[in-house]
Amino acid sequence: MTQEYHQLVVTESKPFVKWVGGKRQLMRELENNLPKQFGTYHEPFLGGGAVMFNLLANEPRLSCNVSDFNSDLILAYVTIRDKLGKLIESLENHSKNYHKDSVEYYYEVRKQEPKQQIEKVSRLIFLNKTCFNGLYRVNKKGQFNVPLGRYTNPNIVNKENLTAVSKTLQTEKIKISCRDFEAVLDDAKKGDLVYLDPPYQPISSTANFTSYTHRDFTEDDLRRLADLANQLSSKGCHVLLSNSNSKTVKNHFSGKRWSISKINANRAINSNPAKRTGHKEIIIKNY
Ligand SMILES: C[S@@+](CC[C@H](N)C(=O)[O-])C[C@H]1O[C@@H](n2cnc3c(N)ncnc32)[C@H](O)[C@@H]1O
Repeated sequence: MTQEYHQLVVTESKPFVKWVGGKRQLMRELENNLPKQFGTYHEPFLGGGAVMFNLLANEPRLSCNVSDFNSDLILAYVTIRDKLGKLIESLENHSKNYHKDSVEYYYEVRKQEPKQQIEKVSRLIFLNKTCFNGLYRVNKKGQFNVPLGRYTNPNIVNKENLTAVSKTLQTEKIKISCRDFEAVLDDAKKGDLVYLDPPYQPISSTANFTSYTHRDFTEDDLRRLADLANQLSSKGCHVLLSNSNSKTVKNHFSGKRWSISKINANRAINSNPAKRTGHKEIIIKNY
């Protein structure tokens, strides 16, 4: 990496929400596939940010330009950065009420639609910490529709991590925005790294989790993604992409510049624990 190493972040910041497709389990494989040197780090499908936080733990001075299309999620990053005290107060309130009657309180909060920034974000974090599997899923109307999870003592207010995340995000070198992934083409320069982790292509008709937002990730989106990756590559960017081991994806990246490798993954999204192991995913890169 080109940035100098500095020990700036006291407590390591980690994802503050569990996100479907989160890359914590694949981190070692991804680390082994990073280019030796790169300029700015771009991640236009940020999700829980596991990869960004991991890179920042080793390289606190890294410039990051990250985004996601899910406006509730991006609002959460921005609120943790700018209004942490108020957010923690609101989460503490959720925690107190949850511990009085978890079932009644969970479903009451789930049906609410707060309009204020703090309440919106604390609701998202509260539901993420207490819902089944920590899954973020919305229906076509954008309504959160996951049932209550079975936790005895969920960590609803992880003050230490939220404080670390807030400090990390306050660094000028980190830019966060809510936008479609294609916009990264205007920002990425020669020598930068662009990590693309879109909603995965389903490999079977029963494995189609694509609803992080009210809009699905369609085949047309995949086509746009392949075009974008080729344009970034022509600009001289390092491009790294992860996806399911899907024929459709491999067909889109069959060009000479792309190398495709299979990696072992242990996905937590399948409701049947027996189907969560021995699963392959792919990593595609142009370097
Ligand atoms: C596989 S997840 C990313 C997981 C992330 N790497 C992590 O470790 O948590 C895919 C993300 O893409 C976002 N997304 C879906 N469609 C998008 C679009 N058109 N543009 C940008 N982001 C999009 C979703 O909101 C979701 O957060």
